[in-house]
Amino acid sequence: MRLGYHEGVMGSDFSDRQAAPDRFDLAALDSALRSTPFAGRLHYFPSIASTNALAMQEADGGAPAGSVYWADEQTAGRGRGAHEWRSEAGSGLYVSVLLRPRIAPADILWLSLAAGLAVRDAVAQVTSLQADIRWPNDLMFGRRKFCGILTELNAEVTRVRHAVVGIGINVHQQGFPPDLAPQATSLRLETGLGWPRQEILVALLQSLHREELAIENDTPGAAAAIRRRLEAASTWILNKRVTVGEAEGYSGITAGLDARGFLLVRGASGVLRAVHSGSVREEG
Ligand code: BTN
Repeated sequence: MRLGYHEGVMGSDFSDRQAAPDRFDLAALDSALRSTPFAGRLHYFPSIASTNALAMQEADGGAPAGSVYWADEQTAGRGRGAHEWRSEAGSGLYVSVLLRPRIAPADILWLSLAAGLAVRDAVAQVTSLQADIRWPNDLMFGRRKFCGILTELNAEVTRVRHAVVGIGINVHQQGFPPDLAPQATSLRLETGLGWPRQEILVALLQSLHREELAIENDTPGAAAAIRRRLEAASTWILNKRVTVGEAEGYSGITAGLDARGFLLVRGASGVLRAVHSGSVREEG
């Protein structure tokens, strides 16, 4: 499927694509998503503080499951661990999806892990690039990250009211400021080509819908499949020497996922610890 700004406008030549403004065609997007709950629930903003902040607010106000909020630019994009997510106009895909999954709060990590697989599948479908996944759901090429996912939750102990899956993908960036440059990349930097954000968005939402359905219909079965797919797709799940946390971290070798999807790290003493907070970095 080819959608978006290069169809009928710029042809399909990749070098032409790079120069074209990468706009969204809302009617085409809605039509491409008609078999999903997202059709009729698409909300686009040229500029907004944070699509996740808006989605959480709209969810509190009763917005339906399947509402999608995305923006050309975010002025206060939120990252994990209170970090900022740089979101310049026209450079990336900044999207938040409001879900009301019928799963237990304890299983929500599987949804977040599945979102990483959904991005990986969408990027592979559009660009043929095979991304690595750094647990829980940073999408990487080598040591550089091009996509982050922030899943925010409103839940009771036994019931998820709503979850917002916020996804930021670096698409058109041609470089990053010095503080980010060693650890950030974009689809453009990886390939030298421009890729249509709309096409990635369609593939991503279709893939995310399939993941959510699978988890809702058979959580244990879906969790087992997510574990298998992550072990196959990610170099981080098994036998990677990592440091966990920032200042007072610990080191060890990754040893798979526990029953809830948390990463296990075996320290020098042989003791296994599950990573419940903090980020995971490659040691050295
Ligand atoms: C991370 O730190 O890796 C997560 C980054 C998540 C960024 C996305 S962009 C769309 C959505 N809106 C936000 O404010 N954040 C998420």
